[in-house]
Amino acid sequence: MTKRIGVLLSGRGSNFEALAESVAAGRIPNAEIAVVISNREGAPGIERARARGIETRVIPSKGLEREAYDRQVVAALREKQVDLVCLAGFMRLLSPYFVAAFPNRILNIHPSLLPAFPGLEAQRQALEYGVKWSGCTVHIVDENLDAGPIVTQAVVPVLDDDTLETLADRILKEEHRIYSEAVRLVLEGRFRIEGRRVIQTAAEKRRANEA
Ligand code: GRF
Repeated sequence: MTKRIGVLLSGRGSNFEALAESVAAGRIPNAEIAVVISNREGAPGIERARARGIETRVIPSKGLEREAYDRQVVAALREKQVDLVCLAGFMRLLSPYFVAAFPNRILNIHPSLLPAFPGLEAQRQALEYGVKWSGCTVHIVDENLDAGPIVTQAVVPVLDDDTLETLADRILKEEHRIYSEAVRLVLEGRFRIEGRRVIQTAAEKRRANEA
């Protein structure tokens, strides 16, 4: 059975695009992106989705209470029978209602090695703090900001001559790679959660080693 992914975004949409590429190339097998939803009308990610012929919905969030908004988004995702929700630069915290509607079925990508530097401008936070290594994290979403169980991470060096742009670019390349890997792992169900730990099952580890 083809698994159906719903992508939520607010901006550029490069992580959406990377997921769409991975689906098209078979790196995320037996899956399709059923809908791309944005809370912002002019989000470039929505244009990118349209250009790929993927169904889009703009559900403006302005002026709505968090849960009232989330109810609209959850209804749209259910209408499209989505199995997995991928946040890809979606600039909103989800309500407990939303999280409960897709238990362990919402992923987010964040441009730092969580729990370091949650929230906005993670790359700037890392640069200003002076860490020598940073990276990105795919995690399961709960009600707290950038806080749920970690599915996977990638590490990049912070170089002495890095600017915000060069560091963000280096991290973004890794984001695009690990998000697809995490989506595949979760869609195939080859993991279990123990406390905060997301443990890959043996079969998944074998597959990754053979790839
Ligand atoms: C990425 O850096 C992602 O980690 C963060 O928001 C940014 C979205 O970029 N959550 P894009 O819209 O996917 O290009």
